[in-house]
Amino acid sequence: MLDLDFVRAAFPALEGGWAHLDNAGGTAAPRAVIERLQAAAAGSPMLARGGPHRSSREAGESYAAGHAAAAALLGGDPDEVILGTSTTANLDLLARALRPAWSAGDEVIVTDLDHEANIGPWRRLAATGIDVREWRARPESATLELDDLLPLLGPRTRLVAFTHCANVVGAIHEVAAITRAIHDAGALACVDGVALAPHRAVDVRALGADFYAVSLYKIFGPHLGALYGRRELLEGASPPTHDFLAAASPPLRYEPGGAPPELVAAVGGILDYLDALDQHTFALRGDAGEAPRGRIFAAIADHEAALCARLLDGLRASPRVRVVGPASADPERRIALVTFTIDGVPSAEVAAHLADAGVALRSGHFYAPRAIAALGLDPAAGGLVRVSLAHYNSEEEIDRALAALAPLVDRAPRST
Ligand SMILES: Cc1ncc(COP(=O)(O)O)c(C=O)c1O
Repeated sequence: MLDLDFVRAAFPALEGGWAHLDNAGGTAAPRAVIERLQAAAAGSPMLARGGPHRSSREAGESYAAGHAAAAALLGGDPDEVILGTSTTANLDLLARALRPAWSAGDEVIVTDLDHEANIGPWRRLAATGIDVREWRARPESATLELDDLLPLLGPRTRLVAFTHCANVVGAIHEVAAITRAIHDAGALACVDGVALAPHRAVDVRALGADFYAVSLYKIFGPHLGALYGRRELLEGASPPTHDFLAAASPPLRYEPGGAPPELVAAVGGILDYLDALDQHTFALRGDAGEAPRGRIFAAIADHEAALCARLLDGLRASPRVRVVGPASADPERRIALVTFTIDGVPSAEVAAHLADAGVALRSGHFYAPRAIAALGLDPAAGGLVRVSLAHYNSEEEIDRALAALAPLVDRAPRST
């Protein structure tokens, strides 16, 4: 059990009275992150790394610490993590970095369930002679199935780009089994972990991911993207960079401009917060002390699953609500991200109505328009309504959202 008073007190942005249920769009930052950001902005000039004087040396140390913190979150080494402005920018850079080693006629496989950040950069390689294949989601389950990938893999497959968990469906994919099949075919796996990483401990090595992308601003951190890449792959690739950095070791070769230094300085605050939460949670259970980060994420998953079950029960009580994805709140199968439509009510109207009730969420395609089409949704519905929870959400917030939905559900025409 999480001590929600302790949790919520750590996040100043939650004090405004809104129920923040748009966490897949971006999470609140805890004081530990905010304080580091402020200290970095106030402490020294925003100088570049590499100089002999104090501020520049500190900037270098701060970059190293930022990479180390992101690596600790992902399970890689610090020199295997690229920090950039976003996952969109990081994956675009990655596609361009890998392309020079490939030949015309080589193949990449993308899905129709991913956020466009993990589709567009690979699809754009078609203009350079790369053949693009599509691994389609099953509309009935809204999931990617390994059986559908296998026939697409071949001797010319270079990379498969797919999502650990989509940002429009809460289902968790079996990444380790999928990466094994991809490696058996001699290809690389690029996994989008953006939606999953705020909710589960990630271990890129156990998952067998060659590349794994997360957005730190959705994991309670500053607005940065962190991209893990296996060391030898990053060393062997050629990102667009300054000529004199072309042979520099990663991550410098991939970060010619450097990510905003005050944001990089704040990354360690995510770990400070998670570690403090771990200590508080397990001390309450009489079980404090050093522990792998996995156990606090297990407690987070339990809390979120209970909220998710409450939400799903409430939504399912109305036959007019159509929930997408897994029916159960089982944390092995899904994260607490629930999307739905209400028959006869445009999704944008649902989101606006909830905003009037102090419930923050959004509707639309969430930059995954191919997924909306793949799921066979009526375009007139205006996409999906998305409730995406974080561990700081409460039962009261779920109930508030359900109560606010009630009049819309009652008004909607009965489905036939
Ligand atoms: C699953 C998923 N992948 C990728 C992205 C893109 O991340 P960023 O905003 O850091 O570019 C998002 C953003 O919403 C996302 O939800």
